[in-house]
Amino acid sequence: METKIYETATIDEAAELLKAGQLIAFPTETVYGLGAIASNDEAVKNVYKVKGRPSDNPLIVHVSDREIAEYVAFVPQQAEALMEAFWPGPLTLIFPMKEGVFAPTVTAGHNTVALRMPAQEQTLELIRKTGFPLVGPSANTSGKPSPTTAQHVMHDLSGKIAGILDGGETQIGLESTVLDLTNAAGPVILRPGAITEVQLEPIIGKLAGSAQSTNEADAPKAPGMKYQHYAPAQPVILIDGTAADWAAIIEAYRGEGKQIGILASEEQLDIHKDAALATYSLGLKNDVAAASQRLYAGLRYLDEQPVDVILAEAYDLAGLGKAFMNRLEKAASSKYPKKQAE
Ligand code: TXA
Ligand code: MG
Repeated sequence: METKIYETATIDEAAELLKAGQLIAFPTETVYGLGAIASNDEAVKNVYKVKGRPSDNPLIVHVSDREIAEYVAFVPQQAEALMEAFWPGPLTLIFPMKEGVFAPTVTAGHNTVALRMPAQEQTLELIRKTGFPLVGPSANTSGKPSPTTAQHVMHDLSGKIAGILDGGETQIGLESTVLDLTNAAGPVILRPGAITEVQLEPIIGKLAGSAQSTNEADAPKAPGMKYQHYAPAQPVILIDGTAADWAAIIEAYRGEGKQIGILASEEQLDIHKDAALATYSLGLKNDVAAASQRLYAGLRYLDEQPVDVILAEAYDLAGLGKAFMNRLEKAASSKYPKKQAE
């Protein structure tokens, strides 16, 4: 199959292919999604197949407006204010599912369904033209970083899907916040994203729980978060330390004859770039939004360089930093300095 790149002018053609059960990747404000019409079980099975996604990990359904959400799921009263405040936008809501609306594989055996309305006009148009909501897991091979450009999607899925709707580089760069509204104890964040606890609580009150970026052992999680994610082929070492810590770690790897890749802020790169074979800048240290937008492109870039190890810089957990660190920790195989024994 030849994978075609669609521009906005050819949305009609992409919608026709979706209706016929083909797969089309689409841009969103977070990352690119792998679209299939959510009523076609064959098409949805194909999404799992081309991604290599475990069959017990349910998909997010993308809707073009709030009215459709009410039609396809049981939307509780408390969700109204959330949709008003954050849709379209990077907030996925988990609702009790209505039987018989979606293909059974969409929800992977769960009795809940994840819905989101992306803030990307082209994609909303694509959903409207298809005439039914679209599933949209991130359009990467399972385990690899999510795609933030059409070229990333092409790299992973070329020849396996009918097309990609090109929307350029995605704006946020990290997947949406997933908020479970079906938990008896109250709303729970299953996956941190650009919409934070601090933004949610004034609207729905205190959360009953939140996935932490550290000590995740007993934190609630989305079914998909148990899998290894976002990882390049080489080990990624997360460094939460001073310039002197960096220098010591770099010396140790160089002593072993290892080629080093560095994924870090401008400030950190200024000090250490000469010791690395390849570098990727996350922007200025005080700009975690820039770092989030660049994270996956950086992991993908360094993955393709002839380096033996990737050293990556830790950021503060405030605001978007929590989602950034959640993804980076999942990509990392170890952490420096090592935590003290508890
Ligand atoms: O920003 C995003 O959310 C992107 C763009 C394309 O919209 N999509 C995305 O989809 O990240 P995916 O499939 O890569 O991640 C979906 C996450 C997984 O962790 C999955 O386990 C969780 O949402 N999820 C889906 N349905 C669920 C459900 N019914 N209950 C709990 N978690 C669910
Ligand atoms: Mg994903």
